[in-house]
Amino acid sequence: MSNPPAHMSPEEFRRHGHAAVDWVASYLERLETFPVLSRAAPGDLRAALPAAAPERGEPFDVILADVERLILPGITHWQSPNFFAYFSGNASPPAVLAELVSAGLGVQGMLWATSPACTELETHVLDWLAGALGLPAAFTSRGAGGGVIQDTASSATLCALLAARDRTTDGAATERGTPAGLVAYASAQAHSSVPKAAGIAGLGRAHLRSVDVDGTYAMRPEALDEAIRADRAAGRAPCFAVATVGTTSSTAMDPVRAVGEVCRRHGVWLHVDAALAGSAALCPEFRHFQDGLELADSYCVNPHKWMLTNFDCDAFYVADRAALLRALSILPEYLRNQATEAGAVIDYRDWQIPLGRRFRALKLWFVMRSYGLEGLRRHIRHHVDLARQFAEWVRADARFEIVAPVPLSLVCFRLRGADEPNERLLAAINATGEAYLTHTRLDGRFVLRLAVGATFTAARHVEAAWRRIRACVTEAAS
Ligand SMILES: Cc1ncc(COP(=O)(O)O)c(C=O)c1O
Repeated sequence: MSNPPAHMSPEEFRRHGHAAVDWVASYLERLETFPVLSRAAPGDLRAALPAAAPERGEPFDVILADVERLILPGITHWQSPNFFAYFSGNASPPAVLAELVSAGLGVQGMLWATSPACTELETHVLDWLAGALGLPAAFTSRGAGGGVIQDTASSATLCALLAARDRTTDGAATERGTPAGLVAYASAQAHSSVPKAAGIAGLGRAHLRSVDVDGTYAMRPEALDEAIRADRAAGRAPCFAVATVGTTSSTAMDPVRAVGEVCRRHGVWLHVDAALAGSAALCPEFRHFQDGLELADSYCVNPHKWMLTNFDCDAFYVADRAALLRALSILPEYLRNQATEAGAVIDYRDWQIPLGRRFRALKLWFVMRSYGLEGLRRHIRHHVDLARQFAEWVRADARFEIVAPVPLSLVCFRLRGADEPNERLLAAINATGEAYLTHTRLDGRFVLRLAVGATFTAARHVEAAWRRIRACVTEAAS
């Protein structure tokens, strides 16, 4: 008989667990001391690692010490209060601890029966969240639809497209393959996950129409209407449209109601991608950005962007769960069980692409209970205030221009004039290690983005970033 490996005893686990939590707490205390953008060169970490895995197990404290020694230099500090790049990836202490509990339980929530609490907590917190965001009743488990946690907004968009494809073809696409002629629509500013989904779902990226935007970078519903009519006239089958509430480049707001009316008229599935900006709907004063959601077939928001819940956690809602299930459910013999057969339970494996799923609802549950809705709203409002303050400073400095509306927490700005000084400015700011910003292009011009969103960002960090930006301009000019 062979012997099992040496596992940690519960006592050793407790000791090492305390050390790991202590390390994370100390990391959070030291966050501001690191250059935000990692200074590692390609290959640095791999050169420091042994070529092969160790034959004999190593002590836990040696492994943890190597996190500090080897891993930290290659980390870009997403949790730094001076992180203003991309969109944030919020982590918060309660979410981190929930992640630990989830890993400790180590359950597979593919079926209700494989861990009833995993499924029921998910259904329940997503109903809580729908209520907190003011979503239409159809998106809750009490209506015809419901919510499910996906890993990412990209997966949510793909699942929505698969359901739309199935609805348009009455199941033929899922059973026999995607027929030619299906067409999808999104604004020219939509996220890259939309063309990616069109490719994966078999429509082909060339059959995603890039719909024209207005001066605020929001989709023009009339342009959507024209594009759908043109495709119909040419014998194609319009199937799916994405409206974005808060685009990645500039948080532009597609007009959901007007887009929804066009989609309803043409029987096109409307998916609303509110990956970042959806969290703002926690605050009633920001809900108008997604007015018209009752016309949407599906909707997603990423608590892992702006709701203090560490990656990964995307809340995906459908108004009619039957359409999603028809596209994604498949029941092999080895998963048959009484609860499923009785039809009395939700099996979330039918709501997503993989079979297996982890217990992500714990994170949202811990976060919503720890902060309360009141705390979550303060988080959003504070960041919006900080971004507005930053925008005012930029506006008051004649060397700069603001190049897109600032509806929430992202400011798109640039030095007036050519691109090159802006590219140099961005590189200079990031080289200081004191702040990290990224860029986009709007109307072909290079634009700097300052996205307020890190969990611990406060007024002093935004003030320091603005001081640093101005100093970099002055240094570059001298
Ligand atoms: C509007 C929008 N949609 C989708 C995504 C993709 O998010 P995820 O990484 O969850 O797929 C992003 C990411 O920034 C986004 O801004």
